Amino acid sequence: MTHPAVHKTVTGLRAAIAGWRAAGEKVALVPTMGALHAGHVSLVEIARQHARRVVVSVFVNPTQFSADEDFSRYPRDFDRDLAMLAEAGADAVFHPDAAEMYPEGFATTVSLAGPATAGLEDRFRPTHFQGVATVVAKLLIQSAPDVAVFGEKDYQQLAVIRRMARDLDLPVAIVGAPIVREKDGLAMSSRNVYLDERQRKFSGTLYMAMEWAARRVGEGDDPVVALRESAASICADGFQIDYIELRDAATLAPAEPGRREGLRVLVAARMGKTRLIDNIAVPVSVKKG
Ligand code: PAF
Repeated sequence: MTHPAVHKTVTGLRAAIAGWRAAGEKVALVPTMGALHAGHVSLVEIARQHARRVVVSVFVNPTQFSADEDFSRYPRDFDRDLAMLAEAGADAVFHPDAAEMYPEGFATTVSLAGPATAGLEDRFRPTHFQGVATVVAKLLIQSAPDVAVFGEKDYQQLAVIRRMARDLDLPVAIVGAPIVREKDGLAMSSRNVYLDERQRKFSGTLYMAMEWAARRVGEGDDPVVALRESAASICADGFQIDYIELRDAATLAPAEPGRREGLRVLVAARMGKTRLIDNIAVPVSVKKG
């Protein structure tokens, strides 16, 4: 097992990628903020299915955190991340500092509408997607990959990035990767470390309630009732719900009444100071009765 090369500068990253390109090799990018877990490893594995070379970026992007969010306490352990990426077979790690990404006088951002203003995460984190889209646009321009892989866990983020890549004609295929879950259903997330023992015990119920609602909608039950009952059971387990919604899986527009295909249930809920988000496809199933 060899450790992947670590590049701290865009120039160094581009030189490494140019070498691969000269040899005719395809390149995939997996953008991360570090604090890696099995979900990230699965992104590297999926990237590898698309390209001979896999670059993983590790950068805790300050511009996607608002002043009251967890930027300073966001978990960081680069040595551990690097060991995991060596094990996962990444070829290179891009680990810039903030000055490399945001040079003196930085003044340009990506302006968003569409899925970024769908009324989900954006209602609670109004500046978040502008920060995400701008840093992802930079990472895509810096590495010019054939493919970039993002987890479906941050489903609205994935929709925003797909839309941006399409709208700005970025020559990259955006690949969404299935959510990796703990045994009890809790979606893997770097922020799960914030959950205390009692919170962790209850957090799996978020998945169960969401999955139950999606199944009922797929079976033809009234979505309003299914989501309301699911929300009640999530609250009974000690969460405060920010939203639980049924949306078009591609545009994130609200689902039209009577529609059952191409839909997604998305949820965000807080337990103590920790905010969890999750989502699931509505399964297409045969109507009951
Ligand atoms: O999903 C994340 O970890 C981040 O939002 C991303 C895409 C790496 C941008 O900072």
